[in-house]
Amino acid sequence: MTQNNRPKISIYIATSIDGYIARKDGSLDWLDRVGGFDEDYGFQKLLDSIDAVILGRNTYEVAASVHDWPYKGKRIVVLSNNSLQTVREEAELFRGDLTQLASQLHSDGIKHVWIDGGVTISQFLDLQMVDSMTLSVIPVMLGSGMSLFSKISKELPCRLVSSQSYPSGLVQLNYEITKSEN
Ligand SMILES: NC(=O)c1ccc[n+]([C@@H]2O[C@H](COP(=O)([O-])OP(=O)(O)OC[C@H]3O[C@@H](n4cnc5c(N)ncnc54)[C@H](OP(=O)(O)O)[C@@H]3O)[C@@H](O)[C@H]2O)c1
Repeated sequence: MTQNNRPKISIYIATSIDGYIARKDGSLDWLDRVGGFDEDYGFQKLLDSIDAVILGRNTYEVAASVHDWPYKGKRIVVLSNNSLQTVREEAELFRGDLTQLASQLHSDGIKHVWIDGGVTISQFLDLQMVDSMTLSVIPVMLGSGMSLFSKISKELPCRLVSSQSYPSGLVQLNYEITKSEN
């Protein structure tokens, strides 16, 4: 599947140096160490560039529980096979083939999608359907937690587009994912 028949798909996610996106209990308090620097690390720019978000069920449940719902005005697709029967009014539930989902979003005129959640991003990476990946490395080693990546079946060459370090110690890496060579 190419960008001719699906939207552009991007990852934008924060990780500990040792590759975790949340503590074992799902908590994100360790992100606070880069807060309070009058800096949004490109988040608003990302939001302005996308027209849809695809969230794994775990990420959706965390986002839905916080006061400030970050996806206002975007098409929101929540992935869940088993646990959810309904989602918030402004979101839609999807279970099934992710290539079909991408194709459906393309037919609906969606141009750029942000995918979020550890399990979710690895599935899209495995399907070779991710075009851009922004990793914000937080200056902490958590030692354990929920992993950023799971196994993927093919090597994915990545081109470093830019890197930036911030006074908070966060380092942001922005990659373009090129087509697999094997
Ligand atoms: N550090 C960060 O920037 C960041 C960003 C996002 C999330 N997080 C944190 O990471 C944790 C969640 O990550 P996670 O790795 O658990 O993964 P996730 O991708 O948020 O959720 C995984 C769940 O999504 C559903 N799912 C995934 N693919 C599916 C498919 N193809 N079809 C149907 N359902 C599908 C399944 O739900 P069912 O079990 O219901 O079938 C699966 O258990 C949360 O604690 C969140 O706060 C951190």
